[in-house]
Amino acid sequence: MKISSAEFVKSAKDFSDCPKDGLAEIAFAGRSNVGKSMLINCLLQRKNLARTSSKPGRTRTVNFYRVNNLYMFADLPGYGWARVSKNERQSWKQMVEAYLEGRVELCAVVIIVDLRRGAETEEQELSAWLEHKGIPAIVVGTKADKLKSNARKHARRSLAEDLVIPDDEVLIFSGRTKEGRDDLWARLLEFLKG
Ligand code: GTP
Ligand code: MG
Repeated sequence: MKISSAEFVKSAKDFSDCPKDGLAEIAFAGRSNVGKSMLINCLLQRKNLARTSSKPGRTRTVNFYRVNNLYMFADLPGYGWARVSKNERQSWKQMVEAYLEGRVELCAVVIIVDLRRGAETEEQELSAWLEHKGIPAIVVGTKADKLKSNARKHARRSLAEDLVIPDDEVLIFSGRTKEGRDDLWARLLEFLKG
């Protein structure tokens, strides 16, 4: 995929604040620190367009990026951040659910999971919820560079089992080595064109 332009559009604090250009959109979801921002930078071939950090929970708003003036990427705030209060968790949930439910531009959600950690309750809930709502999901197992080939296979299989999808639907990815970038773009385009 050739990226001719990639630009930050805005950070939205609530649903009404989301951009209204009507471009076909992909959302990126996953727990804090899993590598959502790095994955977006990798797809867009930009070093630091989406801010990456070693401090979990940096992304608290939905951040929008316009791609080739054709598509929109939405970087959702990470969930499962241990240090946030109950109130903050509640407001996260409200924002993300309003977004996922109301965003008519949304074509698919990329669920990003750390291959070493696998899917936990939140990923299972998100995946089941998307299925229930009829929103397509693409499952990406990331930080693959941290695993040897056997461990990868094992991690991929258990991730697929936990999310009740076939093994080969789990995309293996690394923001560090850029492995999986082209495959992920191919999957995204299937939904962006449909
Ligand atoms: P929040 O916005 O805080 O929710 O985090 P995020 O999901 O956007 O994660 P981010 O992209 O900021 O990455 C978090 C940390 O993981 C950073 O230190 C990255 O360098 C690292 N990281 C992300 N992807 C990979 C990867 O594929 N491999 C390795 N080895 N490290 C990665
Ligand atoms: Mg981030």
